[in-house]
Amino acid sequence: MKVLIIGSGGREHAIAWKVAQSPKVDKIYCAPGNAGIAEYAQCVDIKAMEFEKLAAFAKENAIDLTVVGMDDPLVGGVVDVFEREGLRVFGPRKNAAILEGSKAFSKDLMKKYNIPTAGYENFEDAEDSLKYLREKAEFPIVLKADGLALGKGVLICNTLEEAEEGVKTIMLDKKFGSAGNTLVVEEFMTGREVSVLSFVDGKTIKTMTSAQDHKRAKDGDQGLNTGGMGTFSPSPFYTKEVDDFCEKYIYQATVDAMASEGREFKGIIFFGLMLTEKGPKVLEYNARFGDPEAQVVIPRLKNDIVEVFEACVDGRLDEIDLQFEDNAAVCVVLASDGYPVSYEKGYPIKGLDTFKDKDGYYVFHAGTAFKDGEIVTNGGRVLGVTAKGADLKEARANAYKAVQWIDFDNKYMRSDIGKAIDEA
Ligand code: AMP
Ligand code: GLY
Repeated sequence: MKVLIIGSGGREHAIAWKVAQSPKVDKIYCAPGNAGIAEYAQCVDIKAMEFEKLAAFAKENAIDLTVVGMDDPLVGGVVDVFEREGLRVFGPRKNAAILEGSKAFSKDLMKKYNIPTAGYENFEDAEDSLKYLREKAEFPIVLKADGLALGKGVLICNTLEEAEEGVKTIMLDKKFGSAGNTLVVEEFMTGREVSVLSFVDGKTIKTMTSAQDHKRAKDGDQGLNTGGMGTFSPSPFYTKEVDDFCEKYIYQATVDAMASEGREFKGIIFFGLMLTEKGPKVLEYNARFGDPEAQVVIPRLKNDIVEVFEACVDGRLDEIDLQFEDNAAVCVVLASDGYPVSYEKGYPIKGLDTFKDKDGYYVFHAGTAFKDGEIVTNGGRVLGVTAKGADLKEARANAYKAVQWIDFDNKYMRSDIGKAIDEA
């Protein structure tokens, strides 16, 4: 088989690494890819939003399966373009990717089908939202831009003044662009956050092992929100009891709700859950692997991932026995100092070869490029260093050992990824 992967981050590197292990696969392409992905795949200079060019490339090169890693092309309808051209593609169509693409849609869906989530109101008019905030709201309260905003469109407001400022930021100043045309005002919840990713074939859902992300830039969950500074898997807080509850009220219920709406979902559903005092609730849905959740979940997957992708596309996921290793993994993101605000790029990266002969240690490239024959930093998140261990503590110790093998000029990382394990 020839496989094309769409995307260029650490998540796509983890996908490419796993696809490369499939005995079914002879050749991998990645558009646009990065310097690490180039080890497994031929990188193609087409951007993820150039749907027609991507489909033309897939046709010309007789690609058997395309895997879409990123949210933007999914929400924009890349799968529909590929299907129209008769190409096999793994991911939700546009009418299903809306599960991630519109928070107002996903909230209405959960309400209609009784899927546990925080209380909310949607607003298309700033004045209406301000009236609601002044007359009815309890603080803290959460404001969310409806559309995709690189994980930054969520504001937690402690006072009415902050909320008024938030409405201005999202709806009037349009800081997140058209993502802020609709505003979701949501009840503030507290509890542990857990991510559960799943494969879905339209009817059947198979969940993967759990994971937990660290979204803030600095230790102790301080600083600005980022794409994710590190992850661990499994989450010790995702107990059998929590799993049973989610199986009963959340996972299949979401897949069935989408099918009932005529929006059959095929691909990955990522459930962002909060374990509240009143039980697990859905914080958000994503329509793709998480980044860097993929970097801890995929290395623990025992199956041939290409077989699982194909089963989803063909609607026969019920035939797959999805299995994960009985161990743990921790990923620490090495970023450019200053991320997510401003940072320098182009610094040579040393020590990448150290990972080559080490079992259970992986360096997934997020923002890297080739320059004069060297691999250099080329983004805010540069690398994700993942290590496995028999348990979470061992995996964490291994990951923090491995980050020392890498060196570049403005290397920055959090030192407390997985610290929550100690509280479990
Ligand atoms: P989201 O993009 O919806 O996952 O939101 C990003 C982050 O904001 C989440 O990971 C939570 O930490 C926080 N958050 C979102 N919604 C709520 C809520 N209703 N209550 C408390 N925190 C929230
Ligand atoms: N790490 C969070 C996400 O991929 O959305």
